[in-house]
Amino acid sequence: MYDYNIVRPDECEFIEVASQDELDDGERLFIEVDDIQIVLFKIAEKYFAIGDVCSHDDGPLGDGNIEEFNVTCPRHGAQFDVRTGKALSLPAIVDIPAYPVRVEDNNIEIGFPTK
Ligand code: FES
Repeated sequence: MYDYNIVRPDECEFIEVASQDELDDGERLFIEVDDIQIVLFKIAEKYFAIGDVCSHDDGPLGDGNIEEFNVTCPRHGAQFDVRTGKALSLPAIVDIPAYPVRVEDNNIEIGFPTK
């Protein structure tokens, strides 16, 4: 699994996914890159990208409610930290991918590990 805190940006390939104008604070965007489903959040003026697949039962996660930096899976209520992908509550016990995000010029880029 990818962890936002430990993926080194110099070991990633960054891919442009949106312009900053497309995402206001509190909003989210659904993105597909190379068959990987990703949801990009803007929270407190920062961007966070996680895999849009719950580790409990592979359900889509991105439509879940956000409280602070936690997203709640709409299916069975597991919570994940969007900053790290860490599973915070049952029924999920496995972390989900969280990808580094950077802004270049006005563009939001998501980093995918190359190793
Ligand atoms: S599919 Fe997300 S908690 Fe079950």
